[in-house]
Amino acid sequence: MTSPEISPLYEDVTFHGPLSEVRAARLIRSLMPLDGAHVIDLGCGWAEFLLRVLEASPTATGTGVDRNATDIAHAQANADARGLADRLRLVAGDVAEWQPDELADVVIVNGASQVWGGDPLQHTENALTEARKLLKPGGRFLLGEGFWEREPTEAQLAVLPLPRDQYRSLAGLVDLAHEHGFRLLAAEQASLDEWDVFENAHGLAWERWLRANPDSEHAAEIRAKADRQRRWRLHGWRATMGLAYLTLQAP
Ligand SMILES: C[S@@+](CC[C@H](N)C(=O)[O-])C[C@H]1O[C@@H](n2cnc3c(N)ncnc32)[C@H](O)[C@@H]1O
Repeated sequence: MTSPEISPLYEDVTFHGPLSEVRAARLIRSLMPLDGAHVIDLGCGWAEFLLRVLEASPTATGTGVDRNATDIAHAQANADARGLADRLRLVAGDVAEWQPDELADVVIVNGASQVWGGDPLQHTENALTEARKLLKPGGRFLLGEGFWEREPTEAQLAVLPLPRDQYRSLAGLVDLAHEHGFRLLAAEQASLDEWDVFENAHGLAWERWLRANPDSEHAAEIRAKADRQRRWRLHGWRATMGLAYLTLQAP
């Protein structure tokens, strides 16, 4: 049974995560100066954030890597349409197998610390270790990473598709970054409103598809996916799991 065509998430959201326009602009400012900077975004999705970094600094260049070829094709089309293609290299592939051509002034790993694979308990440490290797001395690292806003209950943990110890408190996350040699330049977190906007959009394509295809042989499968996402959100992470945006300075 082939999977049905569901419209891609980028048709319903601007960024692939709980991120408002206002916060995106502020995060880009936190990475400045960006004149002549080379910016690497790993697990970039359709690279909207990276495109905005390049728009904010006309002399910056970028590399974005994501294994989702549809997202990368969308990123390329947007880069072409916005006149950014000559400053951007997009790679459709696995970050764990990718090698950089040059070191970066800025590395971005936003909601994507899983791109090196392996044990989920090591994902945050992997991101900090690998970003250090990719950065020039004094470079900046934008890490968008999960943390526990409050301690999850046993009932929430039973629903969630992740182990409790994959994440820390916000203070614990910043301490870990410092243990890896970074210094914190700025810390903020996604608001509940940003989460709700993102999560509402997340389920939309499935609901649209279900409405348009009520008698499809795939309806049960798509409904199950939508139900699972809603359970994770409302019985699991809403107002409990946060997403931190840390701007970090490498030594
Ligand atoms: C939550 S999304 C974040 C996307 C983007 N950073 C953003 O903020 O819009 C995580 C991304 O990581 C990508 N990804 C996951 N594992 C990967 C891997 N091993 N190599 C490359 N990309 C990967 C997914 O395809 C997805 O686009």
